[in-house]
Amino acid sequence: MSTAISPTAYNYKVVRQFAIMTVVWGILGMGLGVFIASQLVWPELNFGLPWTTFGRLRPLHTNLVIFAFGGCALFATSYYVVQRTCQTRLISDSLAAFTFWGWQAVIVGAIITLPLGYTTTKEYAELEWPLAILLAIVWVTYGLVFFGTITKRKTKHIYVGNWFYGAFIVVTAMLHIVNHASLPVSFFKSYSAYAGATDAMIQWWYGHNAVGFFLTTGFLGMMYYFVPKQAERPIYSYRLSIVHFWALITLYIWAGPHHLHYTALPDWAQSLGMAMSIILLAPSWGGMINGMMTLSGAWHKLRTDPILRFLVVSLAFYGMSTFEGPMMAIKTVNSLSHYTDWTIGHVHAGALGWVAMISIGAIYHMIPKLFGRAQMHSIGLINTHFWLATIGTVLYIASMWVNGITQGLMWRAINDDGTLTYSFVEALQASHPGFIVRALGGAFFASGMLFMAYNVWRTVRASNPAEAEAAAQIAVVGAH
Ligand code: HEM
Ligand code: HEM
Repeated sequence: MSTAISPTAYNYKVVRQFAIMTVVWGILGMGLGVFIASQLVWPELNFGLPWTTFGRLRPLHTNLVIFAFGGCALFATSYYVVQRTCQTRLISDSLAAFTFWGWQAVIVGAIITLPLGYTTTKEYAELEWPLAILLAIVWVTYGLVFFGTITKRKTKHIYVGNWFYGAFIVVTAMLHIVNHASLPVSFFKSYSAYAGATDAMIQWWYGHNAVGFFLTTGFLGMMYYFVPKQAERPIYSYRLSIVHFWALITLYIWAGPHHLHYTALPDWAQSLGMAMSIILLAPSWGGMINGMMTLSGAWHKLRTDPILRFLVVSLAFYGMSTFEGPMMAIKTVNSLSHYTDWTIGHVHAGALGWVAMISIGAIYHMIPKLFGRAQMHSIGLINTHFWLATIGTVLYIASMWVNGITQGLMWRAINDDGTLTYSFVEALQASHPGFIVRALGGAFFASGMLFMAYNVWRTVRASNPAEAEAAAQIAVVGAH
């Protein structure tokens, strides 16, 4: 209770809790990623049991990395950033605590129900209705805490990072609630309120904007705070950040149909999705350039600061995946890439290179500040982590490009008499070396997380309660 009731202190307790759980869920989610990647190399690892098959563990992987790891990183950083840039404490400690415990409960629910086979079958929205309702309640509470804190800010303007976090919170609520409209028939089974092509369109409007607002806009909020802080430079262009914000949120929402090319979706909707995806390159790169250029005059810091390296390399991967995405949205390119490992490579260029790397950089920045230490226990270990993560990401995406293009070309190869040149199994055999390299890359990335856990643990252990309490005091001027 000591720091919890002081009006002159930030609520760092909830930030610390979410930050620590980011590391814990990161290890579990990525460890599971390595496991399912290994199942694709050695199918015996399915163990012949329904609960451990690839089909059940894959959605558990996506839920753990996106919602548990990514979600906790977003909660931790948004609660940290909103307090520091508004120079005020969170509006309610108990509501913030509810979001922490509620979010962990949803994750534990996913860990139990997904291997048991309870699923709505909608990708990234698999959780059955009781968990989906709990998630909605937690999310609305999150919105209350975040926007409530903004209303009692001590600063005049609302820092741009908060605009991105705010949009991420509002749009995620909208997507989740609309896509989950369903009719429960038992405690563990519900049916979607939509049917046929409409159901598919709503699902990919959700799915794409989950990428756009959960995996992108929230992490851009992170970028706008932690890149300038770590580089000790103001953001390159505040004006560009405003243009970036409005352009990004206006355009993203239209691009979902690129997930449904050559399907029963009306052709005009597919073409609209393609066109909007190509236009989306502009705001994406505007944001990336704004982050990168913030380092003007501070590039030399990259030589000595591995935290800054995490943040800058994440922006490079963001730029890369937001170039690749619009290309894949072009219908002719998509006819080659769709269903292949190319998509999986694109996903992880964004997920490992962008989402995970920026989160890791932000957590390394925050941990010493949250626990009243000057810096992390070991800078050398952060550097080791950085190289494991970078090499791991490159191995992952390069092997998936090779696999994806090989698969796409083998599937479409046709003999003179119109028969297929290759059987599906031949394409699978050709993919085997790539699967091995991907599992290796994943193992690199996941082992880096173990170094992080050790480093965080040593930093936290070295902190004493008085130091931690002093760290949470709100400085009156220039705090953010
Ligand atoms: C050690 C790191 C990781 C490994 C080894 C790994 C491995 C995998 C594997 C094997 C799949 C299934 C691919 C398939 O069906 O062919 C997958 C899917 C996926 N993973 Fe990961 N993953 C890792 C980290 C992450 C992270 C950090 C995120 C997100 C932040 C993520 C997001 C996803 C998503 C969204 C999919 C589904 C892709 C789709 O349906 O197109 N992964 N991952
Ligand atoms: C301008 C930005 C982007 C565009 C236009 C874009 C476009 C695309 C396209 C065309 C696909 C393939 C759809 C298919 O063939 O089924 C795709 C898949 C995907 N992208 Fe992106 N992408 C962008 C950025 C990102 C970023 C930054 C991330 C991650 C953080 C990401 C995550 C994903 C995921 C998870 C999928 C797989 C969805 C699934 O089938 O399960 N994308 N994207």
